[in-house]
Amino acid sequence: MYARVASLGGFALDGFVVTVEADLSGGLPSFELVGLPDNAVKEARDRVRSALKNTGFRYPVSRITVNLAPADIKKTGPVYDLPVLLAILTAEGELPAPPTDAAFLGELALDGAVRSVNGVLPMARAAHAAGIRSLFLPRENAAEAAAVDGLTVYPVQTVTQLVDHLRGNVLIEPVPPTPFDPDAGAALEDLADVRGQFEARRALEIAAAGGHNLILIGPPGTGKSMLARRLPSILPPLTREEAVETTEIYSVAGLLHRGEGLMTRRPFRSPHHSVSAMGLSGGGSIPRPGEVSLAHNGVLFLDELPEFKRDALEILRQPMEDGRVTVSRVAASATFPSRFMLVAAMNPCPCGYFGHPTRACNCTPSAIERYLQRISGPLLDRIDLHVEVSPVDYESLAASGPAESSAEVYRRVAAARARQQARYAGTGIYCNAQLTAALQREFCQLTPSADRLLRMAFERMSLSARAWGRVLKVSRTIADLDGDVTIDVPHVSEAIQYRNLDRQYWHSR
Ligand SMILES: Nc1ncnc2c1ncn2[C@@H]1O[C@H](COP(=O)(O)OP(=O)(O)O)[C@@H](O)[C@H]1O
Ligand SMILES: [Mg+2]
Repeated sequence: MYARVASLGGFALDGFVVTVEADLSGGLPSFELVGLPDNAVKEARDRVRSALKNTGFRYPVSRITVNLAPADIKKTGPVYDLPVLLAILTAEGELPAPPTDAAFLGELALDGAVRSVNGVLPMARAAHAAGIRSLFLPRENAAEAAAVDGLTVYPVQTVTQLVDHLRGNVLIEPVPPTPFDPDAGAALEDLADVRGQFEARRALEIAAAGGHNLILIGPPGTGKSMLARRLPSILPPLTREEAVETTEIYSVAGLLHRGEGLMTRRPFRSPHHSVSAMGLSGGGSIPRPGEVSLAHNGVLFLDELPEFKRDALEILRQPMEDGRVTVSRVAASATFPSRFMLVAAMNPCPCGYFGHPTRACNCTPSAIERYLQRISGPLLDRIDLHVEVSPVDYESLAASGPAESSAEVYRRVAAARARQQARYAGTGIYCNAQLTAALQREFCQLTPSADRLLRMAFERMSLSARAWGRVLKVSRTIADLDGDVTIDVPHVSEAIQYRNLDRQYWHSR
């Protein structure tokens, strides 16, 4: 007596179809599970046995062999409980064979309830690509799977419910396709709360408009953390494509809320400075995305940057450069996307008051030097906008009217983004920060005097080639905020100002 049932497996963001075969034969009763299962998969045996018993089925007194094919790919996690149970019942003749274009997955509780699993969205996408048309999975995962066009998704709560459906007694109602309704910034913390700090606000606006990285440096209590946390309120809403990408990462990480379909908000990640290199980059024997990937299509905020471990900060280079991160394992390597905006904040010295207009700094020059040295030149090079945040003066704090709101700032950001979208249609990029060297030549035309200015700055400030490219991209964004097609002197000169940290603080290197 033999039966086969389709199921799905996943490794990092890859999904694949798994065929679960069950064979029942005479001989001493036993249960053998083969096909490269890990321990969580092997435990299916005990859960399936209890779930069968507790839903009124007899556990077959046979020699049971279950195979998960293809046998050369490692199977992980509890997703195979449900298809294993189904294959056994079908092999016994208790159920008609399920349709071949249907796949089943889910963890079982001992009483036959079906529990949610991680990584459903990438598996559902792969299932559809492989010709699967209907999916039976835990109810909490249904909205996620129904984000894939062309799949009929059946939410399953218990084994009994699924058995009734397959026998044609009581049918399960498929869930409607998952809607996508991105949240605008409205409900978030608002820039209207931030007094003064016009330079920093301007830099935040430029960063949002072009997708640039930003570092805020200044004494404690000047509003650096406050400003950074308000960046999401002036970013454009997620597109559906971005939402799918980001949701897949959260799904695999097990961070999607129960019943959640697609994420509606750009991620804003602010890991504590004690985070390990692996916490940032991702990894583990079953590869999990790290903070750089959880921030994909959103913001990675590193507050108190010099407090982070040096090896953790150095990990950031590859993902910042490539927009993806590869985690190598002994057996296989996994790649996760990691296109994020980096926002960093820091004090200028250990006591925090170096360069303060009224308070004295009590750090020795070598202490300051050591403090700044924790941030490597190559990392600083990748941060387009450097901004000094000074204490707010009394007049600004006491001013009665509210500051400009996020909604007003966003109007300008949206206009600049619209220009970029029109210009980059069909190139595969969406904003200035993503310009490649080749696209830069095509889209960053300078007036002759702007070109002269940039050349002069390049030589005087002895900028690296990378820094030069970044100044050019920021100039492009400033011109876009102005609505100008060609980059001119005011755009370049403002962009150059935002490279001041290389000179003022890190000049000695
Ligand atoms: N520019 C500002 N406008 C309004 N409130 C401010 C400003 N700067 C600081 N504050 C107040 O001080 C608190 C600390 O600010 P914070 O952003 O944590 O400073 P930093 O990160 O620079 O140390 C804020 O919660 C806010 O109440
Ligand atoms: Mg702070």
